[in-house]
Amino acid sequence: MRIDILTLFPGMFTSPFSESIIKRAREKGLVELNTIDIRDYAPKPHRQVDDYPFGGGVGMVMKPDVIGRALAAARGPQTRVVYMSPQGRVLNHAKAKELSGCDHLLILCGHYEGIDDRVLAMVDEEISIGDYVLTGGELAAMVLVDAAVRFLPGVLGDIESAYDESFARGLLEYPHYTRPRECDGMEVPEILLSGHHENIRIWRKKQSLLNTLLKRPELLLQHDFDDEEKRLLMEILFQRE
Ligand code: ADE
Repeated sequence: MRIDILTLFPGMFTSPFSESIIKRAREKGLVELNTIDIRDYAPKPHRQVDDYPFGGGVGMVMKPDVIGRALAAARGPQTRVVYMSPQGRVLNHAKAKELSGCDHLLILCGHYEGIDDRVLAMVDEEISIGDYVLTGGELAAMVLVDAAVRFLPGVLGDIESAYDESFARGLLEYPHYTRPRECDGMEVPEILLSGHHENIRIWRKKQSLLNTLLKRPELLLQHDFDDEEKRLLMEILFQRE
């Protein structure tokens, strides 16, 4: 997969894309990541990328002609163009997975007050990372890249991928523990030390349901319960063992 990011601040991406799992994915050739400086497409000598809003008002608006040239230069026959914007559909697991299937993803980051609205006609979709406003699309683009890249085959190990299975099914994960067995007076649940794999599997499933019920109960409304989950939820609700 290739991901190109159109931004006025390419330097912001240097460190986040040179560490940890994204770094490894790049080294393994699983993803090719590039930043493209929008300013390179602004005319010399001033390289102006933004201008005052027609109709008045505060702030500057990014120029559509400059962005249009940058997009046209980066776009190929298979390119999916995404604009990071608080007005977009909110990113979720399914969308990140869908975008990880693109051959070429081109992500446009806005800054200042926003971009000229005519740019929307040049992109395939707007994506938000949540209902709050960031100072620019760069951090949002990093979130999108991270969420999509981890779906590429070979990026995560089997165990880490298994985590996704749980979220994909609409439940939160069960809790994890490691050594020491006791920390600040808190013990690791006894069952995890039992070596009884089937009991541990069921305990984890129940904890996953409990976690979801307590932290994100709205997820349960859309969940397709299997028989075992129904039984475990009854146990939780009616304190039956
Ligand atoms: N740019 C500014 N705020 C944003 C948000 N919440 N999501 C995506 N891009 C943004």
